Amino acid sequence: MVLFSVTKKATTPFDGQKPGTSGLRKKVTVFQQPHYLQNFVQSTFNALPADQVKGATIVVSGDGRYFSKDAVQIITKMAAANGVRRVWVGQDSLMSTPAVSGVIRERVAADGSKATGAFILTASHNPGGPTEDFGIKYNMENGGPAPESVTDKIFSNTKTITEYLIAEDLPDVDISVVGVTSFSGPEGPFDVDVFDSTIDYIKLMKTIFDFESIKKLLASPNYDALHGVAGNYAKRIFVEELGADESSLLNCVPKEDFGGGHPDPNLTYAKELVDRMGLGKSSNVEPPEFGAAADGDADRNMILGKRFFVTPSDSVAIIAANAVQSIPYFAFGLKGVARSMPTSAALDVVAKNLNLKFFEVPTGWKFFGNLMDAGMCSICGEESFGTGSDHIREKDGIWAVLAWLSILAFKNKDNLGGDKLVTVEDIVRQHWGTYGRHYYTRYDYENVDAEAAKELMANLVSMQSSLSDVNKLIKEIRSDVSDVVAADEFEYKDPVDGSVSKHQGIRYLFGDGSRLVFRLSGTGSVGATIRVYIEQYEKDSSKTGRDSQDALAPLVDVALKLSKMQEYTGRSAPTVIT
Ligand code: G6P
Ligand code: ZN
Repeated sequence: MVLFSVTKKATTPFDGQKPGTSGLRKKVTVFQQPHYLQNFVQSTFNALPADQVKGATIVVSGDGRYFSKDAVQIITKMAAANGVRRVWVGQDSLMSTPAVSGVIRERVAADGSKATGAFILTASHNPGGPTEDFGIKYNMENGGPAPESVTDKIFSNTKTITEYLIAEDLPDVDISVVGVTSFSGPEGPFDVDVFDSTIDYIKLMKTIFDFESIKKLLASPNYDALHGVAGNYAKRIFVEELGADESSLLNCVPKEDFGGGHPDPNLTYAKELVDRMGLGKSSNVEPPEFGAAADGDADRNMILGKRFFVTPSDSVAIIAANAVQSIPYFAFGLKGVARSMPTSAALDVVAKNLNLKFFEVPTGWKFFGNLMDAGMCSICGEESFGTGSDHIREKDGIWAVLAWLSILAFKNKDNLGGDKLVTVEDIVRQHWGTYGRHYYTRYDYENVDAEAAKELMANLVSMQSSLSDVNKLIKEIRSDVSDVVAADEFEYKDPVDGSVSKHQGIRYLFGDGSRLVFRLSGTGSVGATIRVYIEQYEKDSSKTGRDSQDALAPLVDVALKLSKMQEYTGRSAPTVIT
């Protein structure tokens, strides 16, 4: 057995190691500075209770982006030096964020121990490569992202750190090969267990969905992994388990730079899939019935039908409305449902109709985790292409696709082999017919000057003090838009731990149920990203079939002029519209 020793390295703090909504995200070149990653990792170890470090099992893996392999070796050596008992690593450093969450919750070591946490190496949907982004976040024992109390402690540790521990003489472990490598250090044995996480993940999915009934449907998705980690799971699940043709997979080979693309599953960045589904440039080929895409770490999803886009806000509402009948895991009912504040109110209507507990939380998956741990929520979703359930404590891109396949299988169970299948579009239109439709769009202004973005937001807050002035202004912009009846900054009191989160987005609420929401993104790495969320409710089923951008044009106009978007940012158009 190889012996290793522990070295104490002197270091000095770096500015700006504050973990955002989903960990610390910076350019690779920032992470490559000597001691930069090490400082953050040691600050994390120092923020955790001792028993979650000494003798503990931790997971280290991610979406495989550039710098991940180096980071795995560094973190492994630091884990060894800090007295961790074993590290679980996905083969080639690959493990989707939902798979990590599942591994923390479900996987058991030979000696019966389970993981107490994970370093997840990802910057999610941000591009990767030597000049792009890297990221790291810590998830806790419940499989969910560390709560603010822990991330605050990590941040404060990064400001005072003077040394870190590392086993410099621990040899690099070959993480391309599955197997356990054992070492021995001053505090006893240390193992690095490299494994194929798709096996654990498939096992988990089979406890939730009925793979046989999905298989009968023979309508497997055209799946675009955008060269993220989802490709690994897609191949195993859609092709090997559910019998889809290999040709239905797009960009399913994980790459360190995501093939030079932007691994975000939306109508702008998932271009190949969008074209294939008949929503992009026209082609003579008849599009398939079902398509889906994932982001870099496979927690996000986009659902498409033939020439049809399902908004994430509708997607979670439709899954919630159909879950009990279509998905075995929910057969005994839903404990409750939840959405983030900027997500449309489509889910609210379902909750009301089905008499379900309902929660509106700030943006950020961790808020759902608390509700789930307390047994108050089964299904939740966000407008930012995140959907999931209490099977884990992260959103889950492949889970969402399997949920849609299950709903399709259920709706078609009596006409398999018949020529007119109930399609994704049919399901969405039927849903609108029953519950009404929330027209919805989001405008993103990426990489805006941070000061300008702050000023724009401050102006929107200060205008809230006089609604009569706001309404006067609105009437000058568009006379066909209803009055603002309330305006505030969203504030949330967690019903489980009582913690209060303030300044979670600026809201303008209109008399007819429409909403305008303005937020600064918490996940960007340069400048600021302003997000404008625009929503309008239509109950009249004869009016739910309009083109969404047409229906929302008046409100969009109001949003941009009210916020003085062009004046503050110099931008005449958003970077992305979803
Ligand atoms: C991450 C989180 C989501 C959140 C999203 C918001 O993906 O996991 O829970 O909705 O970021 O991103 P934003 O850029 O809008 O802050
Ligand atoms: Zn992600």
